[in-house]
Amino acid sequence: MQKIFFALPGNEVLTDSLAHKTDGETGGMELRRFPDEETYVRIDSDVKGKDVVLVCTLDHPDQKLLPLYFLSKTAKDLGAASIILVAPYLAYMRQDIRFHKGEGITSSYFAALVSGSVDSLITIDPHLHRRTSLSEIYRIPTTVIHAADKISEWIRLNITKPLLVGPDSESEQWVSAVAANADAPYITLYKTRHGDREVEVSVPHIEKYKDHTPVLVDDIISTARTMIETLGHLRKAGMKKPVCIGVHGIFAGTAYEDLLEAGTAEIVTCNSIPHPSNRIMIDDLIMRYLS
Ligand code: R5P
Repeated sequence: MQKIFFALPGNEVLTDSLAHKTDGETGGMELRRFPDEETYVRIDSDVKGKDVVLVCTLDHPDQKLLPLYFLSKTAKDLGAASIILVAPYLAYMRQDIRFHKGEGITSSYFAALVSGSVDSLITIDPHLHRRTSLSEIYRIPTTVIHAADKISEWIRLNITKPLLVGPDSESEQWVSAVAANADAPYITLYKTRHGDREVEVSVPHIEKYKDHTPVLVDDIISTARTMIETLGHLRKAGMKKPVCIGVHGIFAGTAYEDLLEAGTAEIVTCNSIPHPSNRIMIDDLIMRYLS
């Protein structure tokens, strides 16, 4: 089936790359705000009978979801055969239980909205922690791609004697996979989160790794408090300046600057969310599922 790609704002580079690599067409459209802040959508290309690929990474999801929904519904109204959402970062996955009385389990509600908006979803390393599969909350076909091999490859090429460090037990799944392919040892720490920006991390004995370069690997860097707290402990333990790798660099507010200031040797992210720290490109990984 012929594919036509549309970039939601900010996703143009990845969209062009995917369209190019899969011999697909890039669609034209207009998406803008009316003066009253409502959303205007117009599709200029012929989508009839085609698979429409909407590329929209879902950091800052609240402002992105309605334009995405309108675009998807417009394409379907105009005869698209199917709507595939490529969302390299999938939002709301961390609110997967009621941590405090009265809270909403927003990962489920968000999943219901996305499932009602598109026909299928392709994403990279969603934060599956207490849930093991997206199918527990998404009722459309989903494809989960892992960036571990790409991260291992970057580490192998750029770091001598790495020690992979996972800042919490949740990160073990990513760190262990990356460590195995990078042929490097790894340790995981224990984290307690007291609030949005209050994080406490404990470090095991790491004396035997003093001559290694610590490489912190986590799925998400949001406020960066998890990484900053970990950096402090590694410094106290007399370790070398660490490299920080996040699959998804959200960098809320001044998080990127804060993390640089906290004494990291380098901050590296995948291009699942466009950012100057993007060094690990996931285009080829996604392309395989679109060919
Ligand atoms: C949490 O469970 C995730 O794996 C990350 O550790 C977390 O989202 C990082 O958040 P922050 O950068 O705000 O500490």
